[in-house]
Amino acid sequence: MRNNCTLLRTALVAATIGSVFLFLGADDVYSEGDELTEMGLPPDIGRDEVAAYCDACHSLKLVVQQGLSRAAWEETIEWMVEEQEMEPLESDDYKLVLDYLAKHVSIEVRLKKRTQ
Ligand code: HEC
Repeated sequence: MRNNCTLLRTALVAATIGSVFLFLGADDVYSEGDELTEMGLPPDIGRDEVAAYCDACHSLKLVVQQGLSRAAWEETIEWMVEEQEMEPLESDDYKLVLDYLAKHVSIEVRLKKRTQ
């Protein structure tokens, strides 16, 4: 009897901890990935930074809708900082964000989507 009780308690504790993790997981869309991938931001280095920085004032859809060259992304980020009151990015983050955008939200990617 005593053993059964302990087992039950252990199971209950495990279930509680499990649901807390589930709850936290559901809340954190960025670590899930799928939502961003569906939106057009596949997992890669720099995606977390893009999601964190560029989602602050407007939807990431606004970002994904574009399809720019690296130089045009540089100008866009500069424009965000100079005209839209975005905090300047630390240089490491700036590179991550720029690399990611140039690779995954490029003119080539946009053209490919259009012809699909
Ligand atoms: C501090 C707020 C802020 C942050 C942070 C921010 N933006 Fe923006 N962004 C804006 C505003 C405001 C507009 C709309 C400007 C307008 O249309 O006049 C905008 C518009 C845009 C557009 C649309 C431009 C167009 O031609 O229609 C793009 C693309 C964009 N942002 C990219 C980014 C990217 C990439 C990041 C992250 C590196 C970012 N934004 C972060 C404020 C911000």
